[in-house]
Amino acid sequence: MSKPAARAYSLSAARPGRSIAVASGKGGVGKTWFAITLAHAMVLSGKRVLLFDADLGLANVDIQLGLMPALDLGCVVSGSATLSDAIAGFAPGGFDVVAGRSGSGSLAALDPAALESLLSALASAATHYDVVLLDLGAGVDRAVRRMAAWADTAVVVATEEPTSLTDAYATMKLHTADRPGGDARLVVNLCSSPSAGERTAATLTRACHAFLGRTPPLLGTIRRDAHVQDAIRRQSLLLTRHPNCPASLDVEQIAARIADAGPAG
Ligand SMILES: Nc1ncnc2c1ncn2[C@@H]1O[C@H](COP(=O)(O)OP(=O)(O)OP(=O)(O)O)[C@@H](O)[C@H]1O
Ligand SMILES: [Mg+2]
Repeated sequence: MSKPAARAYSLSAARPGRSIAVASGKGGVGKTWFAITLAHAMVLSGKRVLLFDADLGLANVDIQLGLMPALDLGCVVSGSATLSDAIAGFAPGGFDVVAGRSGSGSLAALDPAALESLLSALASAATHYDVVLLDLGAGVDRAVRRMAAWADTAVVVATEEPTSLTDAYATMKLHTADRPGGDARLVVNLCSSPSAGERTAATLTRACHAFLGRTPPLLGTIRRDAHVQDAIRRQSLLLTRHPNCPASLDVEQIAARIADAGPAG
């Protein structure tokens, strides 16, 4: 099968990209859905976006988008394709995607030199975009840590659940060790209300301030919203299907804040 022709970049438009890794520690907090929706929100505000599914273990950008990629990250890692070959246009969202591959192992199993060469290929690809979003796997294995530290910004997604909070804190702690003075920000997803989300964020930021000496800014809260499940079930984009639902408005606000944000942390 040939590669989709809808490649969003042209060589003449090359300039440095900005990379944002979406991490969490705990699984199932909404990283993949958030990364997809953030990618779409950024496209709607005029950005050229590459969404990189950095999860080989339980990849699901492809599932959530209903993609059947001819080439994916598994091919890149096994050496049968280059990263640039595995970039495919996703026309409904207007962004490009490097799909992961469910069940094909983990980037953690990749030797460090191979991971570095993957990241340098990604850095080259990034020059064709305004933003590269990395949807990281759950956990804090070596590859997840390295990619979170590699990105210009790490966005740590937490929920109100105590286990998510402790895992988000652990992710922040490792990011602080790997990238002292780096830019890490916080998103609280699945909030019962914006103020409950802000309270959760305040708990986490207090711990980061007290024990890590950094105060990760809150990028925003995202309300728990049944429209999210509906869009995922239908493999459609939330901002297309339910543009005015609470979760859509929350992600659009976060996209606008990221666009304005400079380094902090
Ligand atoms: N704001 C929200 N409102 C309602 N449901 C949500 C919201 N965010 C995420 N979900 C639900 O959470 C589920 C898990 O989301 P997702 O697969 O994006 O999580 P993840 O963090 O990427 O998981 P993994 O760690 O396994 O990669 C989704 O299928 C969706 O049903
Ligand atoms: Mg995921």
